Amino acid sequence: MGFAQGHVLVASNRGPVSYDVREDGSLGVRRGGGGLVSGLSAIGPDADAVWVCAALGEGDREAVRRTGGALDPADTGGQRVRMLGIPPDVYAAAYNGIANSVLWFVHHMLYDIPVEPAFGTEFREQWAAYETYNRAFAEALADEAAEGAAVLVQDYHLALVPGMLRELRPDLRIGHFSHTPWAPVEYFRLLPDDIAAQLLRGILGADRAAFLTHRWAGAFTACCKDAVGGTGTTRVGVHGLGADADFLRERAHRADVDDRIATLRDQLGTAPDGTPRRTVVRVDRTELSKNIVRGLHAYRELLDTRPEWHGRVVHVAFAYPSRQDLAVYRDYMTEVSRVAEEINSAYGTDGWTPVMLRLDDDFARSLAAYRIADVALVNPVRDGMNLVAKEVPVVSDAGCALVLSREAGAYEEMGDDAIVVNPYDVSGTAAALHTALTMGDAERAERTKRLAAAATALPPTQWFLDQLRALEKK
Ligand code: G6P
Repeated sequence: MGFAQGHVLVASNRGPVSYDVREDGSLGVRRGGGGLVSGLSAIGPDADAVWVCAALGEGDREAVRRTGGALDPADTGGQRVRMLGIPPDVYAAAYNGIANSVLWFVHHMLYDIPVEPAFGTEFREQWAAYETYNRAFAEALADEAAEGAAVLVQDYHLALVPGMLRELRPDLRIGHFSHTPWAPVEYFRLLPDDIAAQLLRGILGADRAAFLTHRWAGAFTACCKDAVGGTGTTRVGVHGLGADADFLRERAHRADVDDRIATLRDQLGTAPDGTPRRTVVRVDRTELSKNIVRGLHAYRELLDTRPEWHGRVVHVAFAYPSRQDLAVYRDYMTEVSRVAEEINSAYGTDGWTPVMLRLDDDFARSLAAYRIADVALVNPVRDGMNLVAKEVPVVSDAGCALVLSREAGAYEEMGDDAIVVNPYDVSGTAAALHTALTMGDAERAERTKRLAAAATALPPTQWFLDQLRALEKK
């Protein structure tokens, strides 16, 4: 597909790079991955695509001050990036206050309903900041876009952008993509009516509103019917995002991952019969929706009810920090550690630590755990897709049984060969762990092959190009 200069733009809160200020005052740069990075690389340099993102922290803001916002291509692998220096207080209110504490909570149904939410004046102030933050994106996009350009706006942070941009630039083709679930009507109705309508009309400013699964697309359509009389002229689409198999397979076989496997094997140790201990692996951001605590309770119930597993299995839980500005995320992390320690002190012996919990982010170590996992536990209470469920079968060395929540988007594509659980059912999850741990080698390998095929059916490049193509059709 050929795209002329300035004809493709993407917008997301988090950009492809982030900066920190080093002791000597210079800027250190870190590059991220993800579907957008591979998608943009697939359209080639001719399109000269522009990625608009926000400065997230002090390092990013310093980079914006030094560059005026047009980042140095040497930092970004050649990608044109415009980073917006939103004032810190506006950014905090929009990102922590609205995006992560309200919209994320609504779509993942995370509220403790007897006491929250309570939308008062603080909420209204934060909402005004969310509008300001969305307007900054809309104006930057309007400024960068060539006549008739395609603009792909990402996620709940930027739900008002399509509507705002449409007013500024009626010539553009605008797509919005939600990487999260969408709330069911009854839950979406928690939002004040005017806010709910504004949010939906914001997304409906796009030519297309797209989602990861039919379930989330259907929920969005139902909310539109309920609150604003329907989806109007906006087309609703579904684009599942798959694992990036080529990247993963190459990355998972580098020397640093092999080193981590050796270390892990050493730490895991052997069962009384001399065979390597079995592993139940999970890798997540320490995210409220990931259901890490109930996963630990289920593992504990497995040990309570089936003593034959004592000394023979380890729950490897990598839970790296996320959204630590929010007290509820910090508390969640503390709770994860507390429950893990409780299990270790109840059941651990000199030679066996039943839970191996690690709270630092180490990508090579995560890949090492993927490769050697006997069982992968992916039990979110609600999840847009969940890429871990897709990545594990792709890199697994000898086959891995997947225990998968029916509330994860990945269930739509992977449910057939997974052991499916209701994420609230701790006893059911414990039973599923036992079934997974006792699955025969041949069946495990066969299922893993089919899971890997399902997981890679829609590589990130195709996910991205499909959206651009769909936008071309008026
Ligand atoms: C989800 C969202 C992304 C977000 C990511 C990490 O996957 O859909 O938009 O970037 O979580 O969250 P964070 O708050 O660290 O950006």
